[in-house]
Amino acid sequence: ETRARSGTATARKCLRVKVISLGCAEVGKSCVIKRYCEKRFVAKYLATIGIDYGVTKVQVRDREIKVNIFDMAGNPFFYEVRNEFYKDTQGVILAYDVGQRESFEALESWLAEMRQELGPHGNMDNIVIVVCGNKIDCGKRRAVEESDGRLWAESRGFHHFETSAQTGEGISEMFQTLFTCIVELCEDGPRARSSLPGGFTREQVDTIRRIRSSKDSWELLGLQPGAPREELNRAYRRLAVLLHPDKCVAPGSEDAFKAVVNARTVLLKNIK
Ligand code: GTP
Ligand code: MG
Repeated sequence: ETRARSGTATARKCLRVKVISLGCAEVGKSCVIKRYCEKRFVAKYLATIGIDYGVTKVQVRDREIKVNIFDMAGNPFFYEVRNEFYKDTQGVILAYDVGQRESFEALESWLAEMRQELGPHGNMDNIVIVVCGNKIDCGKRRAVEESDGRLWAESRGFHHFETSAQTGEGISEMFQTLFTCIVELCEDGPRARSSLPGGFTREQVDTIRRIRSSKDSWELLGLQPGAPREELNRAYRRLAVLLHPDKCVAPGSEDAFKAVVNARTVLLKNIK
């Protein structure tokens, strides 16, 4: 049986990947991982001490993947332990608690810590990042809207999921997307970004030109006058991702981005 398998042209060797969890203490990183790997939830808070390590096997398309998960402690105290675990990472779960605004606002500094530890030669383009807004089951008042989380993530080219480690909502979708994207990246190489020499794309340049010459807010967003709110938000998000000043270095992108934000605000005011 073994011989038959290894003899087939489609048999491919098992892929090994490394995934880390990042985010403030107590947002639920360990619980999200436990929910996925062990299908259970522990309500008592047991802070991760430095780092926890686990292995799981998953199937993506026709491939078997062995995932090494490094679950990091969020407490600043453990920086010294965390810092050496950033290298050789293919996937990141970047987590916050939807009921705790500061944990959302800290996401940028978690990215900064990773960037710093990877050093000047570290390449974040080869890392798949999923942003995880956890604890959506909590009765506690929401401090971060779904749309805020999504915009933050998508404008940086990351996926966004809302989850509950307690109920399991959103958990398998998030992990499935993470693993699928990692496999795609391994098989196809870094996303062919079709960059122009200046580090920006033809699409970005064309969009900025189109925005500049548009006559009204509808046209600016590429919509028919009177388009419904969902369409407006979709168009807005797409442009925000394309032109976000953190991502886009094409000349005029900052003004174009502001014009897009402005156009959406104006149009939303008029949609009851
Ligand atoms: P550190 O290891 O200190 O960085 O924290 P962590 O991010 O790993 O948090 P952990 O998973 O230990 O969870 C912190 C607390 O939040 C625990 O008491 C969990 O039971 C609780 N918790 C985690 N996820 C959820 C969730 O989705 N819903 C609710 N209601 N509570 C959660
Ligand atoms: Mg933990």
